[in-house]
Amino acid sequence: MATVTLRNARKSFGSVNIIKGVDLDIADGEFCVFVGPSGCGKSTLLRMIAGLEDITSGSLQIGGREMADVEPADRGVAMVFQSYALYPHMTVRENVGFGLKMTGHSKADIEKRTERAASMLQLGPLMDRKPSQLSGGQRQRVAIGRAIVREPDVFLFDEPLSNLDAALRVQMRIEIGKLHNDLKSTMIYVTHDQVEAMTMADKIVVLHGGIIEQVGSPLELYHRPRNMFVAGFIGSPKMNFIPVTVQAARDGNVMLSLPGDGRMTIPMKGDLPAAGTRLTLGCRPEHVAIGKEAAASGALQGTIRVAEYLGSETMFYASLADGTEIAVKGDGLAAQKSGDILPLSLPAAACHLFDAQSNAILNGDLTR
Ligand SMILES: Nc1ncnc2c1ncn2[C@@H]1O[C@H](COP(=O)(O)OP(=O)(O)OP(=O)(O)O)[C@@H](O)[C@H]1O
Ligand SMILES: [Mg+2]
Repeated sequence: MATVTLRNARKSFGSVNIIKGVDLDIADGEFCVFVGPSGCGKSTLLRMIAGLEDITSGSLQIGGREMADVEPADRGVAMVFQSYALYPHMTVRENVGFGLKMTGHSKADIEKRTERAASMLQLGPLMDRKPSQLSGGQRQRVAIGRAIVREPDVFLFDEPLSNLDAALRVQMRIEIGKLHNDLKSTMIYVTHDQVEAMTMADKIVVLHGGIIEQVGSPLELYHRPRNMFVAGFIGSPKMNFIPVTVQAARDGNVMLSLPGDGRMTIPMKGDLPAAGTRLTLGCRPEHVAIGKEAAASGALQGTIRVAEYLGSETMFYASLADGTEIAVKGDGLAAQKSGDILPLSLPAAACHLFDAQSNAILNGDLTR
């Protein structure tokens, strides 16, 4: 059992509060990803779990056991860092086994665990090389090997792939996924990479300024963001935000006026916003419609500022009548040019509405 539970966990450095009361339940065997802007406290939270930082107040339990007085080495956790500091004078085999040697494991035990980690990570042919004779991806595999041999209940990864090039990242991402399937350990993984977060996580935790904005599965966060921060943070290119005003609201429909002279109606359950309320409408670039139906709807027009023809898709960056910038993903054959007027429409089922406090009052959801 290696659940990880934080209750009102706080961390201050001197008088500066960095982690401001985190409540989080990570299930046994779960792959949990922390995301958030630089400086929001991801590494600090991970280091608190590892025991490398003490917790100013609140509680941390691993496997149901309170960790306040437990040393890092006794917590059943192993951490892999972005900078994989390997010992340059030792071989891969010695690097992988070194931690076990220091904690007094028998030679036979070290050998057995090292071989097992080597075969999982396909390090076999590299075991007698020194770190300087390895590629970046191979070095990072050695660093992961060092964590595996400790047989931890919980793996902690702090941006382990950010020093690797794009192709290696993809390969290592798949390998870490396989490792999770094989070992079934609890894993907590910090990343800046949207694709890593979306593809690897059972659960994503969005952190912002030391608090949790939202916790959920990747698709929950994508389709049902609780506020504009999460809506803008999850997804790339990010969700468009368009200022709108409620014209009228009745019988389960909200009529909105859009920048320019456009109008649209969105069905909405529950309390409807009053006429005159200013809201922000959110719509992802891939859901904004262009072309004939958009022209027929007359809802919205954008002037194309930049067009990127990527082959598989075309990205348009356009500005609306009030100057709002909007990103639109068209198919790869869309050939409109910079300066062209692009008729746009926003499918009601894909639109989100946020109030003046940036909280979602409606999540359009194409999956429902
Ligand atoms: N030892 C320390 N003393 C004082 N402040 C610290 C210390 N360690 C971290 N901080 C501050 O805590 C905040 C959170 O840092 P942290 O490293 O957790 O951010 P992060 O989310 O991991 O960012 P990044 O994505 O850039 O790695 C930052 O403002 C940082 O300056
Ligand atoms: Mg960090």
